[in-house]
Amino acid sequence: MRVLLIEDDQAFASAFTNALQDLEPSIDCLHAWSREGAVAALGSSEYDTILCDLSIPSTDGALDEDVIHGISVYQQARKLHPGTQILILTGHSEEQIDFVTTAIQEAPREDLFGMRRPMALTRLIRKVNLDDCILSLVEFARAQQQMDDTIEIQERGIALTSAERRLLRIFAQRHNGAIIDVLPLSGGLSQSKTLRVQVQDSGLVTRAVAVAKLGSLESVTDEETRYRKHIAPLLGVGSFTSFSDEIRAGAGSVAGLFYTLAEEYQTSFFDVLARSERDALLVLDRLVELERPWTSSWASKQIRVEDLRRSMISDDQFIPYADSVRALIPLDQVERCRVTVRQCPQHGDLHGLNILVSGENRPVLIDYGDVGIWCACYDMIVLELSLLFHPTSVAVRGDWPSVEQAARWNDLDVYVADCPFPEFVRRCRANAIRLAAARRDVFANAYSFAVRQLKYPNTDKNLALAVARCAARELLRT
Ligand SMILES: Nc1ncnc2c1ncn2[C@@H]1O[C@H](COP(=O)(O)OP(=O)(O)OP(=O)(O)O)[C@@H](O)[C@H]1O
Ligand SMILES: [Mg+2]
Repeated sequence: MRVLLIEDDQAFASAFTNALQDLEPSIDCLHAWSREGAVAALGSSEYDTILCDLSIPSTDGALDEDVIHGISVYQQARKLHPGTQILILTGHSEEQIDFVTTAIQEAPREDLFGMRRPMALTRLIRKVNLDDCILSLVEFARAQQQMDDTIEIQERGIALTSAERRLLRIFAQRHNGAIIDVLPLSGGLSQSKTLRVQVQDSGLVTRAVAVAKLGSLESVTDEETRYRKHIAPLLGVGSFTSFSDEIRAGAGSVAGLFYTLAEEYQTSFFDVLARSERDALLVLDRLVELERPWTSSWASKQIRVEDLRRSMISDDQFIPYADSVRALIPLDQVERCRVTVRQCPQHGDLHGLNILVSGENRPVLIDYGDVGIWCACYDMIVLELSLLFHPTSVAVRGDWPSVEQAARWNDLDVYVADCPFPEFVRRCRANAIRLAAARRDVFANAYSFAVRQLKYPNTDKNLALAVARCAARELLRT
């Protein structure tokens, strides 16, 4: 266990570390003496517990000790290490300022050891009660050690960080596990790690099987919020994988969401497309049905193309490519255009790997990081164009389309010539047109989505520019 002690009082610091070492030599205690030292230590490593004295100087050796320095360190620690317990150390009763009361009130309560016993992530420790503090740290270290000692992690084809191991042990502990078997699933395009995890108890009975998504607390919270708002309450049972658990704290800056494993859904939509266009059309029709709770409650509004494009690729990401786009497209004129759109919840990243398909050609949606309000035609456009831009799709579509065909994206007869699944493309497009407010809505989304592809290192930029140019030209014509 790693502890960071932020404390300028030498005598207290050495009494503290000596007592801690005597009781539990496995605890690794790092030390910062000032605000500056603490900020550096917080930025460079993970800790299991942070002890923060409030009255500290701004830099090592300075004589300006003040609670404002300790408060700013606390705030930084909470921000950088949202899943770590922080013990605020106070020496005098006058330090019982409003700040401490609020910090304690606002601190989340979390289950740090998988025992389903939540504890406050911020607590106040009086320096006069040093023994209590030491004992609580020792208990903490032993509880962590106990998890390490009793739960074996079987990493297959993946190297986990120590924080990720800790998080998976908390999950295993919640299911009385003795072994947790971990297999990578992630396509790896996003920041988070996706894993298949199976927990067995000491009798080798399987206690849990799940898909774990590990990432920052921010990304995990974001995905969970999207799920709770747009997926669970709106979509039909069986059309998404449900959320089974979450771990927000106890593993440094790593947090995790756990979903039920879609076991009968072994194939991706890209696999189906490669196998049979007939099956793919069946899945597509079911997808349209599956999304009906979303698409049937839309709202329309007028937006600028520029704003739509920004929702897919920010100005910062776009600027490096703006000149190459401008060489082909009257960029300013296109982006200035206003377009009436129909909006509703959408998956937001509906490429062929984010749709799993059962043996009976039933689709289930996974990966909810982009779920939110988009244009109602967006999923159909993403699904169609993921054939061109998703790295996995190249094997499925072969040489189709040429850049010349992509430049005629709107002329379907030309565009789908030699396509291995022409009817699929036509039906995606027909769906997009039906769901859109009018044609400009479709073109503005296709333009923005094609331009978005420029930011990815392994997309075919010529195809992206060709589609963007065609969509922009049609947009200006309508
Ligand atoms: N609930 C689930 N049941 C079965 N398999 C799943 C489940 N969730 C994810 N997978 C598998 O794991 C892969 C990666 O999952 P997911 O798409 O959620 O991760 P990701 O890293 O965000 O992927 P990307 O960014 O490439 O879209 C999926 O393509 C799928 O094969
Ligand atoms: Mg995915």
